[in-house]
Amino acid sequence: MSQDYIQFIEKVHRKTGIDLSQYKEAQMKRRLTSLREKRGYHNFKSYYNALENDSSLSDELLDRMTINVSEFYRNRKRFEVLEQKVIPYLLQQKKKLRIWSAACSTGEEPYTLAMILSRYIPLQQVEILATDLDVNALRKAEQALYHERSLKQVSPDILRKYFRKEGSSYRVIDDIRNSVTFKKHNLLADRYQKDFDLIVCRNVMIYFTEEAKRRIFKNFCHSLVDGGIFFVGSTEQIFSPQTHGFEIFDTFFYRKWQK
Ligand SMILES: C[S@@+](CC[C@H](N)C(=O)[O-])C[C@H]1O[C@@H](n2cnc3c(N)ncnc32)[C@H](O)[C@@H]1O
Repeated sequence: MSQDYIQFIEKVHRKTGIDLSQYKEAQMKRRLTSLREKRGYHNFKSYYNALENDSSLSDELLDRMTINVSEFYRNRKRFEVLEQKVIPYLLQQKKKLRIWSAACSTGEEPYTLAMILSRYIPLQQVEILATDLDVNALRKAEQALYHERSLKQVSPDILRKYFRKEGSSYRVIDDIRNSVTFKKHNLLADRYQKDFDLIVCRNVMIYFTEEAKRRIFKNFCHSLVDGGIFFVGSTEQIFSPQTHGFEIFDTFFYRKWQK
């Protein structure tokens, strides 16, 4: 790694708390280099000096680092498995559920979970924690106002039931909004809460180094109750789940071993 880039990621770490050395290097460096060049800086030192004095440049950098793309019912088939197999399994053990949507971005994922769960149990019996390290994304999540492109996977039935049209956008109804609590959390640095029945962490682990992923899997395992379920993204299968305390429950779903 060049000194220029190493020093840059150290300074970014101090400034934002985000440790880019735990993200896959080639991919991240390519993203940041292209942004730096687009803004006309020949090295990371001069780029950093500029963004120290220009908050629009540092917001843009945060945006580039975090990759907030999301949508409701992302990879729909997986949510069908969640609905038809995972939720009935969880409700066999308990009447109240505690759920964590980690790296939730702008909120589409935790709201999708609330919509699905509301068909099975009163939402007062469900606690959904939704976290991300990007506060701008969390602010949007709390607004719960979405452009049509986030709703491509939403059926007309769900659209009618859980959204209200506002101009050219759609807002999630209050019952669903009120069942989700948003909070800032950095998966690589912050303490993990415990006793979750279901943890959903999708489309972020692909960006982390193998070593960072190992630590995160271990933390998630500790955060789940015995028999709890861990739901990952559709390109994020865990290579040997047993080494992290999990067994396969279904494709992209892992169950914490019961003691
Ligand atoms: C592509 S989005 C995934 C959104 C949603 N889970 C989904 O699958 O549609 C990735 C999210 O991970 C968040 N993220 C990146 N690094 C993180 C970290 N260290 N801790 C928590 N969230 C992180 C980003 O801010 C971004 O919102």
